[in-house]
Amino acid sequence: MRLENKVAIITGAAQGIGKGTAKLFAREGAKVVIADIDAPRAEQTVREIQAEGGTAAFVHADVEQEEAIQAMVQFAVDRYGKLDILMNNAYWSKSGTVIELARADWDRSLNVMVRAIYLGCKYAIPRMIEAGGGSIINVASVHGLLAATRSAAYEAAKAAVINLSRQIAVDFGPHGIRCNAICPGWIITERGEEFLAQHPDAYERAVRCYPVRRGGRPIDIAYGALYLASDESTFVTGTALVIDGGLTCWLQDSLAQHLEQADRV
Ligand SMILES: NC(=O)c1ccc[n+]([C@@H]2O[C@H](COP(=O)([O-])OP(=O)(O)OC[C@H]3O[C@@H](n4cnc5c(N)ncnc54)[C@H](O)[C@@H]3O)[C@@H](O)[C@H]2O)c1
Repeated sequence: MRLENKVAIITGAAQGIGKGTAKLFAREGAKVVIADIDAPRAEQTVREIQAEGGTAAFVHADVEQEEAIQAMVQFAVDRYGKLDILMNNAYWSKSGTVIELARADWDRSLNVMVRAIYLGCKYAIPRMIEAGGGSIINVASVHGLLAATRSAAYEAAKAAVINLSRQIAVDFGPHGIRCNAICPGWIITERGEEFLAQHPDAYERAVRCYPVRRGGRPIDIAYGALYLASDESTFVTGTALVIDGGLTCWLQDSLAQHLEQADRV
């Protein structure tokens, strides 16, 4: 029960990493608010948590809307009396170079992945301070550290998430607020399963770049988030925790050599 008596909001928790984390947080004793725009899946997440004996509630919150974020924070406080943990995790993005990407898609990507964090923190931090402190976890990506092809909005957003997390750590550390980012590598979610069903060879090809030779699962990120959410990490703030099976620790020329050899076999 590493999160006993804690109240957590997780955005984008209807599926994927958010759902996996919500289930783990609830198992560890947290009361969890599942904030999402996908009501059927979010309600399913709540039912699964309750079936395991956990406590959770769904709030419909479009993180592109400032009022919805404000209402989401208020919902958690009204329902469970306080707020200790905010995990900003919601995801929407379109790929493309800066030439290909429509401005509306750039704006939506940055709104969901960056502006939503600014607004979530703006409204959550005062409530956390009232509760005696809190932990904010912002889900960034290895794409915030390095650039892939044709991912202008995603790479820009995730790099911003990392430094915004440091900024919040610096500004609010004296008030008992910790703020950290997590940088996942490829995590196979429901979305990932759909992709793999259409591209059966993709998994084997991708994992050749991972020293651990497997893709990640939501639970791999959930365990990192649990540590950052819990009081075990009270000396940890402003960090970007890389959970990527070693993807970004491999020197590129050595990796290229390894892939060349593998292709020859
Ligand atoms: N899956 C990966 O391989 C991977 C790797 C690195 C980082 N990440 C990051 O992890 C986080 C979660 O990714 P995932 O793969 O689990 O995503 P996902 O697509 O499985 O789930 C995203 C969730 O966000 C919700 N959402 C979308 N727009 C929203 C909005 N406007 N308001 C509220 N909710 C909204 C969706 O309904 C969905 O439930 C994202 O920030 C993503 O960038 C994922």
